[in-house]
Parts: sequence; structure tokens; C-alpha cells
Amino acid sequence: MKRVFSGVQPTGNIHIGNYLGALKQFVELQEENECVYCIVDLHSITLPQDPKILKKNILDVAALYIAVGLDPKRSAIFVQSMVSGHAELAWILMCNSYTGELSRMTQFKQKSRDNESAPTGLFTYPILMAADILLYDSDVVPVGSDQKQHIEITRDLAIRVNNKYGKTFVVPEGRFLKEGARIMSLDDPTSKMSKSAENIHSRISLLDNASKIKKSIMKSTTDSEGSVRFDMDEKPGISNLINIYSSFSGLETADIEKKYTGCGYGEFKKDLVDVTVEAVLPIQQRYSDIRESEELIRILKEGAERAAAISEKTMDRVKKKFGLGV
Ligand code: TYM
Repeated sequence: MKRVFSGVQPTGNIHIGNYLGALKQFVELQEENECVYCIVDLHSITLPQDPKILKKNILDVAALYIAVGLDPKRSAIFVQSMVSGHAELAWILMCNSYTGELSRMTQFKQKSRDNESAPTGLFTYPILMAADILLYDSDVVPVGSDQKQHIEITRDLAIRVNNKYGKTFVVPEGRFLKEGARIMSLDDPTSKMSKSAENIHSRISLLDNASKIKKSIMKSTTDSEGSVRFDMDEKPGISNLINIYSSFSGLETADIEKKYTGCGYGEFKKDLVDVTVEAVLPIQQRYSDIRESEELIRILKEGAERAAAISEKTMDRVKKKFGLGV
């Protein structure tokens, strides 16, 4: 059995990009693997957060984890800050990373924009992510393609430490889906769908109602050619919509193109609204059942205990290898 680890930041507006790129994989993988799924609240404070909203967002993501189909009996579901090993291992890894490699991270460059008062945590963000993954001897990390660079630095760090101190860490592999790995923004299909974009119609949140979903899809940017054909370079808008359709329905791109030959974008978009609403509705029903229940807190506490038991073993091993403590 392989160990799977992944995480989502509790920063609100969890959208279909998060679902189709990551959460959908989390559910599939729990069938045959030992899975550990985290709500990475320590990552979210790399940018300012309102404490009350953060607490709410943590529980929102936890409820969504269950609502999309994670089974707390099979998968450990927990909040990062409730297991101390993440921050502890991050420090040790920081002492084995280079400022040069962190300066090259595209996410840091985008978010800091050469601003000297950017938080240091934003700079060391990839190291905390590496700690998350390495702490659980993870074999597989299901994520969207925007996390590729972070997975690479995690692998580099694991190999570097193994070479210097002897076999300490498992070197993990990223896992990316074909269609869902990079869902693009609906109003600008050249940038990825994001939680923080100002225009709410640029994304479909998992908790959007049917009329909001309809509005966002019908308004989405396409092109003037009018044929439902996949071509990411020349027709990024419609190609993104085809990707979303394919990810939700399980139909291959070629079959979708065939089905809509001779149809305009309007007809295709209307069907995509139906496919999307049909996919998110059951998630929303389960979400409202679990969100306010006492059970949610119990699941997170139990998940943290399971995660702590695994992480403590790793920390003992790491400390021995590094000569820390007595
Ligand atoms: P976060 O919270 O930004 O996103 C959660 C997951 O959703 C994926 N994703 C997307 N996939 C497809 N299309 C999109 N438009 C899209 N937007 C987001 C992300 O790739 C991610 O898989 N750094 C991570 C959180 C993290 C983590 C970890 C992940 C912290 N520690 C350890 C894995 C392992 C992040 O910011 O995800």
C-alpha cells in the first residue's frame, strides 16, 4: 500500500479547479492507499488572515473534504497546525535549503512582486510544503499542475538530505490528472482559475447555486469561430470548458467534439451548466449535513492523532540522523 499526502489552503472559495485538479484524485486514491489529507492553515497565514474567518474557512474545507467523498475511517483528515511536526521539520529543512532555489520559485515571485516587506513565510512556503510531504514518508502527492515546482523542490530536498545524512526520507512523486490539472479562469482562459480573483464569474465555487453557475458559464470567454473544438493554444476558452465537461462527465475530449459537431457555443454551454450542477449538487447536500455537526470536530481531532502518530516516528528518525537532542 502506498502512502498518499495532500493539502488544501483554507482561504475560502474552494472552486471546481481545486476539485477537478486535486480533491477528485484524493477520493479516487483512498480506495487502495493509506491517505493523509491536511487543511494547511499554517500555509494560509503566509498572507494576512482574519482569525475569525480563518477558523470558519478551516471548518468549511474540512466539511468539503467529507462532502466530496473522503471517508474519515479510511483517510486521516486533519488541520496542519494541530500536528507540531510540520513546523519543526520545516525548520530543519530550511537549514538544508538555499536562498537561491527559493528565490526562483514562481509563486514567490508572483506573490511578493519584489516587495521588500513581503512576509518571510511567503519565501519559505515551499519548505513548509516539503515538510508536510516528507513528514509522512509520502509516496504520492495528488495536486494540480501549479504545484509542480513545489513537488520538485521537495524531491530535491529529500535527495539532498538522503545523500548527506543517509536514507532519511522517501522521495515522493507528484500525481497530476490529464484534464483537471489546470482549470483556467472563465473570464480569462490564459490564467488559472483562482480563489482570490476579484471577478466571481471567473470561477465556479463548489458551493455556488445553480443560477450563479449558469451565469458564470454562459458569460465565459470563448472565441468567434463558434465550433466546439479542443485547441488550447488557439482556442483556450472553449478548450477549458471542454476540459471541465470531460472531467465532470468522464467523456473523452474527442467524444465531446463529436457530440457537439455543428452546434454553437450556446448549446454546449447550456449542457455544461447541467453537467456541472449535477456534479456539485450532491456535494452541496452532504456539505450542509456535515458542516454544523459535532462529528466534524471529532473527525479532525481523531485525524490529528493519527497524523501525529506517523509524524512522531519520522521526527525521531530525522533527529537521530541530524544528531539533534540527547
Ligand atoms: P491550494 O490551496 O492553492 O489548492 C489546492 C489544490 O488545488 C489545486 N488547484 C488547481 N487544480 C487545477 N486547476 C486550478 N485552477 C487549480 N487551482 C488550484 C492545487 O494544485 C492544489 O492541489 N501549496 C498548496 C497546498 C499544500 C500542499 C501541501 C499540497 C500545502 N502543503 C502538501 C500538497 C502537499 C496550495 O496552495 O494549494
